[in-house]
Amino acid sequence: MSLEQALARRNERISKLGALCGGILCGREKITLEIGCGKGHYLSAYAAAFPNEFCVGIDLISDRIRDAARRAKNLNANNAAFIKAEALEFLEAMPEGIKLEKIFIFFPDPWPKAKHHKRRLIHKEFLDTLRRHSENGARLYFRTDFFEYFEWTRDAIAESAVWELSPDPELPFETVSQFQRILPDFSTLSATAK
Ligand SMILES: C[S@@+](CC[C@H](N)C(=O)[O-])C[C@H]1O[C@@H](n2cnc3c(N)ncnc32)[C@H](O)[C@@H]1O
Repeated sequence: MSLEQALARRNERISKLGALCGGILCGREKITLEIGCGKGHYLSAYAAAFPNEFCVGIDLISDRIRDAARRAKNLNANNAAFIKAEALEFLEAMPEGIKLEKIFIFFPDPWPKAKHHKRRLIHKEFLDTLRRHSENGARLYFRTDFFEYFEWTRDAIAESAVWELSPDPELPFETVSQFQRILPDFSTLSATAK
């Protein structure tokens, strides 16, 4: 596929996502977002515990999104929606005027080899984009079992002009995600949008 074709497909995906989000998020001013939500273990339980927040989980894999939606339904978490989307494409498609209030990123793919580090979700550009879509004081929560990625993220946030590391990394809610169950040795950090 040529670069032009790839860009055209990306634009088409973003346009479809924009229409979908326009419907799901109509009338909302802020949302809680989980990026890479997997099968929704965390966000469906979170949404059930915080019925006044509207929660959106995104993931690249359709089957996981289907499982997540089923899980939320079983918990009567009507305030949760799960969408198959890539993180940057979702942010680009988000309707104007909607801001992120909380962002969860748990056990993101670590891409351990140096030659693959550029594939990691956390980079300066990603943090800047996330901030542009976040309200002032928004909170970002990050958890990983891969300590080198934890340090990478902590350093990226420490160097960020738009996010500030929080002294208290505690999550607003704890439940065990699918990957946390198999990777019980992890580190957590949180940051606040400046
Ligand atoms: C290791 S799993 C963790 C799932 C879940 N957070 C948990 O703790 O069980 C990482 C998930 O992130 C998703 N993912 C990876 N890159 C992504 C991206 N750029 N945008 C959205 N989802 C992504 C993958 O499809 C996968 O389901």
